[in-house]
Amino acid sequence: MKKAVKANVHWVGKIDWDLRRFHGYEYTTHNGSTYNSYLIQEEKTVLIDTVWAPFDEEFVENLASEIDLDTIDYIIANHGEVDHSGALPALMKRIPHKPVYCTANAVKSLKGQYHADWDFHVVKTGDRLDIGNGKELIFVEMPMLHWPDSMATYLTVDNILFSNDAFGQHLANNELFNDKVDQCDLMFEAMKYYANILTPFSQILRKKLEEVVALGLPIDIIATSHGVIWRDNPMQIVEKYAAWANDYQENQITVVYDTMWNGTRTLAEQIAEGIRSADPDVAVKVFNISKSDENDVITEVFKSKTVVVGSPTINRSILHSMAGFIHLMKELKFKNKKAAAFGCYGWSGEAVGIMNEMMKDAGFTVIDQAFKINWNPDEDARRRAFKFGAEVAKA
Ligand code: FEO
Repeated sequence: MKKAVKANVHWVGKIDWDLRRFHGYEYTTHNGSTYNSYLIQEEKTVLIDTVWAPFDEEFVENLASEIDLDTIDYIIANHGEVDHSGALPALMKRIPHKPVYCTANAVKSLKGQYHADWDFHVVKTGDRLDIGNGKELIFVEMPMLHWPDSMATYLTVDNILFSNDAFGQHLANNELFNDKVDQCDLMFEAMKYYANILTPFSQILRKKLEEVVALGLPIDIIATSHGVIWRDNPMQIVEKYAAWANDYQENQITVVYDTMWNGTRTLAEQIAEGIRSADPDVAVKVFNISKSDENDVITEVFKSKTVVVGSPTINRSILHSMAGFIHLMKELKFKNKKAAAFGCYGWSGEAVGIMNEMMKDAGFTVIDQAFKINWNPDEDARRRAFKFGAEVAKA
């Protein structure tokens, strides 16, 4: 069922309450998600984006129950990823000759995925499309936010920015707008989305935000492709993105570890106590990564000024859970964060040195060379772990 956004703009997407993993199994979605598609009915009828492929027939049938599909004049594909373009093949089967407006890179991604030769119309930043009643669409390329093919579409007069993935959240809700949902859920999911998907592109994002502001387009509504639409103070999320894109951190230190026989766990807890004792204002969080949600811990890393990683030595190396998590942090290209490493060992004790090197390679500034304890921590080792935590807090 379509839902009113503003004037002659309606939401015609899909709420996916069931979704618990996104991008394959890469990203956890505790609150589900939505795939937002928008219908604009002026003198010309425009469809912006579609939904994820499993819902393609449902989407097309719903749309056909709202309008005669033949009345669609323009299809806008802001981004080729399958969660937004997935219903295009089913739709284009019904209306094969309708023009598809997208970036040059989106022609590549759509052809690459669907091997279809639709009537593509390539657009660039600043290109305009007249849709009648004095309204136009203006296109803004958003390369690497987060695919090379991404763009946003702006609707004049109604002042709506259809931003696609940017400013989105994986948050299923029957409510359409940001002022109608739980604000903690909303901001948690918005930050998690940024931390896990957009962090590597922060530098590009900073420039793009400046470019969009320089266009001088009034923005009353930001209609994203996931989650709720920003209508109440829509610039609040733009301001958040500006802060998040600027090597964001809070006064937080996060300890991430894995353990075999609880020795490294004991150190983790003592280190956290030591941090707290040295700086009562710092937020300290501790996660056993093999028992935690990696995407949620990435969000905590995003908020942190320092990340302390721990693993016992195994096979002259580290536990694969920690190796995988450090790899994930490296992929996300965090900037301006410090790191320290710790762990227990029985025989050779390579883990701490390996993690220090891995954290350096991941772009962190390592603040201590080695804190390792032979065998199970005794009282003295616990005291040293506490002291190590205090030193990390002061570093
Ligand atoms: Fe929501 Fe990049 O797709």
